Amino acid sequence: MNIPEHIAIIMDGNGRWAEEHGEERVFGHQNGVNAVRNTIEGAGEAGVKYLTLYAFSTENWNRPKEEIDALMELLVKAIHNELDNLMKNNVRLQTIGNIESLPSKCQIELKDAMKKTKNNKGLTVVLALSYSGRWEIVNAVKEIVKNNVYEKDISENSFSSFLNTQNIPDPGILIRTGREFRISNFLLWQVAYTELFFSDILWPDFRKEHLFEIIEQYQFRQRRFGMTGSQIDNH
Ligand code: FPP
Repeated sequence: MNIPEHIAIIMDGNGRWAEEHGEERVFGHQNGVNAVRNTIEGAGEAGVKYLTLYAFSTENWNRPKEEIDALMELLVKAIHNELDNLMKNNVRLQTIGNIESLPSKCQIELKDAMKKTKNNKGLTVVLALSYSGRWEIVNAVKEIVKNNVYEKDISENSFSSFLNTQNIPDPGILIRTGREFRISNFLLWQVAYTELFFSDILWPDFRKEHLFEIIEQYQFRQRRFGMTGSQIDNH
């Protein structure tokens, strides 16, 4: 089986899941943590190297304050409670995004978890927090200007090294749950040749079995990177 090194997920549908259960939106986010735990476990079992989860976008700051506060609180709690599990499963935690914009409690918890898991050699879970693809690209341009990089030294490869994902391979698979068909400003540069999968499942119901099913479907996609089918077949 061809297992992609990197899978990225847009975890959508928490709010609608809560509504369907006659509950407040936060209830959906709380149950979304179960899906996160199970998916991390599944990605590790499948032998995936990197799993990037879109946990909070730059645009999510526009949500009602109570929901933002609840999400940040949930994040702090989840990271704290899941740390033993991450250690047990040999998972390393990393982040991408504007981490300094998060509440300090959140930053402290993240820093602690990243420090404790930094030598784990299994799956790397990358949490995208206060992240957006355009923010990341603009940030990279600012860094390039600040560092007085010469025009001749700018290439796709060197540009990639200024992104938050500098040492992470581009995703082989991008999954979006929740019956929406958008990229929503996620990993814009990195998904240039990524295989896209859209799932009808609302995020709190997503489980490793769904992930395995998508990995199976991925086997039937031919990644041509702009070449012809026969060029790939003869390779
Ligand atoms: C999108 O659903 C989901 C989010 C904005 C938050 C995702 C966060 C979690 C699953 C919890 C994070 C926990 C960890 C440990 C990473 P939505 O609210 O946009 O749903 P809707 O489209 O149905 O309204």
